[in-house]
Amino acid sequence: MEPEPNKPAIPISIAREQELIRLLMTFLFTGILFMLLPGTFLGVWNLFAISSAQSATSVPAAWMQAHGHAQLFGWIGSFILGIGFYSIPNLRRVSAWSFWDGWLIWSLWTIGVTVRWLSDVYLWQWRVLLPLSATLELLAVVPFFARSVQGHRLQKKFKDGSGAWALLVVAGTVGLIVAMLFNAFECFRLAAAGASPAFPPEFNGRFLILSIWAFPVPIAWGFTARWMPVFLGLKPLRSKLIIAALAVNIIGIVAAFAQSLLPCAILLLAGAICMVCALRIFESADKPAKIQGVHKSFPLFLRIAYVWLMIASLFAVWAAIEPSAAGIGGAGRHALTVGYLMTMVFSVGPRMLPAFLGKKKLFSERLMFFALLLTNVGCLIRVSSETLAYQHYASWAWAFLPVSATMELTGVVIFTINMIGTFLQPPLLTPATSKCGAARPVQDAI
Ligand code: HEM
Repeated sequence: MEPEPNKPAIPISIAREQELIRLLMTFLFTGILFMLLPGTFLGVWNLFAISSAQSATSVPAAWMQAHGHAQLFGWIGSFILGIGFYSIPNLRRVSAWSFWDGWLIWSLWTIGVTVRWLSDVYLWQWRVLLPLSATLELLAVVPFFARSVQGHRLQKKFKDGSGAWALLVVAGTVGLIVAMLFNAFECFRLAAAGASPAFPPEFNGRFLILSIWAFPVPIAWGFTARWMPVFLGLKPLRSKLIIAALAVNIIGIVAAFAQSLLPCAILLLAGAICMVCALRIFESADKPAKIQGVHKSFPLFLRIAYVWLMIASLFAVWAAIEPSAAGIGGAGRHALTVGYLMTMVFSVGPRMLPAFLGKKKLFSERLMFFALLLTNVGCLIRVSSETLAYQHYASWAWAFLPVSATMELTGVVIFTINMIGTFLQPPLLTPATSKCGAARPVQDAI
């Protein structure tokens, strides 16, 4: 915890900051790898197979779930754990000098998610590997939560006076732990008595509602509440409405587990509408947006993300009215994951990560724009053609699925190149270059 005795204090604080940045970069790089290969590549492969067979059931359920798990937990999860660990208040007081706990969380999480993907795709020794993966994932999130609680306890009061954003992030972290508990329960149950590692459809449907609406969605809301009033110049948040929206969202998720899918979907829609009103994302801004260092389309894409959130919530209601319609459920899910979550990450990431990583600026603003454009157009084609094709409304729509997948994959590759280009930029602060000495709090640089 304490600086090594023989080293001068100033470079040590910078070296420690650099160690933390190395850890964050490792989490981000791991997330990008999961997004690219086990996530998007397998998703594209699945979609090509579905399109050529013109049947949504032509791909094994375990393969679909391997893709979904890699995207939600491998990619989004690694990003959130990395950024979350890095941003724990008072981290430098509650974590060891070497941040060994952060490295432990990273190792357990990465091995857990990788083992899950391998057991779903190759089925090798899955009765052992499936519960092992779930145990490792659970073991990773528990110390993360413990550190977060410790750090927050030292924080006497929230800086912005409201703390609504922190509540959303804490709710999302609790959502992750609950999702991991359900995941472990089902993995152990299947290992003991199941015929394959794939979660049965009924459980999986509810598990996906929990994994998406209780984990990355509240965290994305929390990030919006924390940063967007500054970045987009929005009017002040309606904090009480944020808390009400979160409560409605949680009741909606509970309703899914009480077998009430339509009330669940209506509540999720109501929660999302309240959250949009609370964040005031579609209201005229009070101040000009801060777009230095990012493409000027940044404010537009952030608002588009929230249009996707609304579309996804409406699809969830439609899917609940027609529960056997795989195309409607799948299209709505991708409106939420690609349309909302991916657009959020692809726009907020380039705005914040260079400063978090101590880099001067984003590698390329133009690449940022093309990644967002391609994934959004791809998602639009995907959501419309999946509904038309899977539901047999129009047979020509099957041919558009590979087009959407190729556009989304290209967008993902462009985002990856931009991020790796940013990682490779020289650091702003080194012990040799620093004159003032103190490691600059990165948030000040944003
Ligand atoms: C980028 C291009 C993507 C492609 C081509 C793709 C493709 C697919 C396909 C073909 C399915 C099978 C079900 C269906 O047809 O709807 C699926 C399911 C799924 N995808 Fe994606 N996807 C992509 C991105 C994402 C992202 C970014 C996420 C999450 C952040 C995600 C999460 C999921 C989930 C959770 C499922 C459900 C898996 C299950 O049945 O358990 N996908 N995806």
